[in-house]
Amino acid sequence: MVKKISSSVFISGDGSNLKSILKNSRDYNFPIKIGLIISNNIRAYGLKYARKYNIPFKFYSSDNKDLFERNCLAELRKKRIKFLCLAGFMKKLSKKFIKNFGYKIINIHPSLLPRFKGLNTQKRVLKSKEKYTGCTVHYVTPELDSGKIILQKKILIKKNDTENSLKKRVLIQEHKLYPKAIRLVFKWLFLKKKIYFSFRVL
Ligand code: GAR
Repeated sequence: MVKKISSSVFISGDGSNLKSILKNSRDYNFPIKIGLIISNNIRAYGLKYARKYNIPFKFYSSDNKDLFERNCLAELRKKRIKFLCLAGFMKKLSKKFIKNFGYKIINIHPSLLPRFKGLNTQKRVLKSKEKYTGCTVHYVTPELDSGKIILQKKILIKKNDTENSLKKRVLIQEHKLYPKAIRLVFKWLFLKKKIYFSFRVL
């Protein structure tokens, strides 16, 4: 049995990526276990998975970003969390917060980055008349959707795709890509022994 790294998932909405990570984390050789779920939206549908899988969760308002980050850090430290996955978490994290984790925060975005960073992704993808789109898992940096890319999955845009159909088709791929990327990150980490699972500030 691998020694799983205690991790947290940050969400703001539906939590379908959270669900996929939780399902995968039940696998004995999946590198992480989810010890904490954080939402900045009290009504996030994804919180139901916290209840279903019996995972501790916290809601913190992100209206005051500084307070939000301080609350998160305190809880992450308390729970000895060492790795963060952002999954539909719709708030930028500060440079200071990210620095605490180094290369230990990853995010998923529904486009082939660096194309279509930011919000309303599928609307802009469709407007652009691109042939392909997809999803990307990347390391988090203070610049929006800009960190080093870990994995991408490309799909063909269909002629009759709508914003909704594209969103759904990309999401299906996200659910496979995110767990794959997590496995890959830990394979790299353990191979290179480059990253130490301790915090500078925490
Ligand atoms: C996903 O498509 C994710 O890639 C996107 O929000 C959705 C959340 O779905 N994230 C971003 O756009 C971040 N820039 P989920 O809550 O069902 O996982």
